[in-house]
Amino acid sequence: MSSSVGCLATYSQSGVTGNGRMQQSGQKSNVVPPHLQKTRGQGTLDYREAPGGSLNRSTNQSGESQIITLDDIREAQARLRDITVRTGLIRCHVHELDSATDSRQLYLKPENLQPIGAFKLRGAYNKIASLSPEERNRGVITYSSGNHAQGVAYAARALGAKAVIVMPNNAPAIKRDATAALGAEIVLVGPGSLERQLKAEELAAQHGYVIVPPYNDEKIIAGQGTIGLEILEDLPDVETVLVPVGGGGLSSGVATAIKLSRPNIKVIGVEPELAADAQASLRTGKIAQFPAEQVSRTIADGLRTQSIGPINFEHIRQFVDDIVTVTEDEILKTMRRLATNPKTVAEPSGAVATAAFLFHADKLPNTRINVAVISGGNIDPQILAQLQQKTT
Ligand SMILES: Cc1ncc(COP(=O)(O)O)c(C=O)c1O
Repeated sequence: MSSSVGCLATYSQSGVTGNGRMQQSGQKSNVVPPHLQKTRGQGTLDYREAPGGSLNRSTNQSGESQIITLDDIREAQARLRDITVRTGLIRCHVHELDSATDSRQLYLKPENLQPIGAFKLRGAYNKIASLSPEERNRGVITYSSGNHAQGVAYAARALGAKAVIVMPNNAPAIKRDATAALGAEIVLVGPGSLERQLKAEELAAQHGYVIVPPYNDEKIIAGQGTIGLEILEDLPDVETVLVPVGGGGLSSGVATAIKLSRPNIKVIGVEPELAADAQASLRTGKIAQFPAEQVSRTIADGLRTQSIGPINFEHIRQFVDDIVTVTEDEILKTMRRLATNPKTVAEPSGAVATAAFLFHADKLPNTRINVAVISGGNIDPQILAQLQQKTT
């Protein structure tokens, strides 16, 4: 495709309906899809189960799944009032789609407009604000490739808590610098997501810090879920919501908010083809873990997570309809288009949902009113400049 995308902001009335918990809706298919069967043998999508495999599930003491409720998400929404930006939806006109054969509409949810340039502030603030004063006094620690780091640093500063962040040494400089500028202490480790988690756990045990996980946590999920509530408020007629998947906090929260309110709306996760562990997990019914060297190859640094969290997996398999993948080239093309029109800077991870809409209509529900979440816009300025110099 070579057309441009033109967009304008729209706002509308609340469309939130329903309340409470949804019943377990049956498991997704356990069939390994043909593309995974083919590529596994070649080693290009080589993966192994996370320790514990399908038994590695999140349950409370009575053995029930810890699925958050709409009330959890509404409480998060109340905590975030006056902290996060209430991002409006931007209506996009993709010219070749305005044809007789394709009448799809696309709206963007620009979370790149948050104070830290990404949605992550929602979950981080909800989590830290929910701690007791004694816990906040001990300080908080997290492990993150960048945006969650900034979310935690920003929220901790707003709430008067010390923040320590374990980051991979391949995190973009813009994210490292912004985190340090927010007053957080930074500890650098290797690129593996498990490695940074272990380091954070070690430091928490040594110093008494409270861990603020990037995605595998109910308060984080509820915070990210406020995006889903806002989409429903602004666009009651929405039929499909596309959302990036890294560790699964964003997708679990958004899908839970949407499905507990309006079960007929489709929620589709999007991953880079090079880091499609969540797709493998959803399709096989077990949490898949990809090697760090493999997922590090995607330009989408926020989506290089080696596996989704067990709590996220429970939400995703209950509420996410499907997970599709996009190529590196599609991510870059989409970033360029968004930068051209509607002049929106999406970082690679932030562009994947729009990329799926633009390049993979055949794998998506055939719906007219669609929303793609632009989850972040923190990209090194020189990469953005290089990108804009290239033609589509
Ligand atoms: C911009 C951006 N989008 C999406 C994600 C994925 O979010 P999650 O890990 O909650 O799936 C991240 C994670 O860091 C991110 O930074």
